[in-house]
Amino acid sequence: MIILKNIHKRFGSKRVLDGVNLTLEEKRITTIIGMSGTGKSVLLKHIIGLLKPDAGDIFVDEMPIARMREEELNRKVRIKMSMVFQEAALWDSLTIFENIALALRIHKHLTSPEIARLIHENLELVDLRDIENAYPIELSGGMKKRVGIARAIAIRPKYLLYDEPTTGLDPINASIINKLIVRLNRELSITSIVITHDIGSVSKIADRIAMLDNGKIIVDIAKEQMWTHDDPTYINFIKGHIGVIP
Ligand SMILES: Nc1ncnc2c1ncn2[C@@H]1O[C@H](COP(=O)(O)OP(=O)(O)OP(=O)(O)O)[C@@H](O)[C@H]1O
Ligand SMILES: [Mg+2]
Repeated sequence: MIILKNIHKRFGSKRVLDGVNLTLEEKRITTIIGMSGTGKSVLLKHIIGLLKPDAGDIFVDEMPIARMREEELNRKVRIKMSMVFQEAALWDSLTIFENIALALRIHKHLTSPEIARLIHENLELVDLRDIENAYPIELSGGMKKRVGIARAIAIRPKYLLYDEPTTGLDPINASIINKLIVRLNRELSITSIVITHDIGSVSKIADRIAMLDNGKIIVDIAKEQMWTHDDPTYINFIKGHIGVIP
């Protein structure tokens, strides 16, 4: 379980997080929604230790990580956590095989045949075949996202953080990614935290919905309350984003 306790973060005079409290339950998919620029990506970076809070702490399986050193973060926390970046973040000069191998070599001591097998297996999991030798530029946006996901799950993380996984994709590819997020959660029991603007995605994948607004979590509800919750800021957000074509 991941618990965020009273997280404060400012950049210069700009206050971004102003006492965030949130519990991310195991084996669930929690979606985090909120207006652009409200601090969702900043929040995600705190969970994986890329940013440190000014005050408060983050507990990952009961370990407080806010003041952990890099070496300890890598050894104890990042070993069980992966992030899928918004822009897929593949190395353009490397093949798909090398892109995924890089993640595996950093985290585990594996032999070359084991690495090859794992790469094949993880590409199969995201429904990609025979693309090991291709370069990112040869793939569509949706395929690149799936390679990003294959790379993230290759270390079999307990926690997977997705930053806007469907942004920029057409509805068909967005739907493929949504189904994949749910399948990986159910089949591999990956606890998933998904930042998204896309209300259609939220309704398809969320077990829980949290909304960040003005530096605080103002809504933290089960999926069942998605259409009945009565917070006015939340309702405006949900209504404002329905019918928006990506
Ligand atoms: N490293 C940084 N240094 C200074 N300011 C930053 C830094 N990272 C983020 N910010 C600021 O923090 C605020 C929140 O940014 P963040 O990227 O978390 O928003 P977001 O909710 O993810 O937005 P979007 O939906 O557009 O991705 C923004 O005003 C941004 O300019
Ligand atoms: Mg963002």
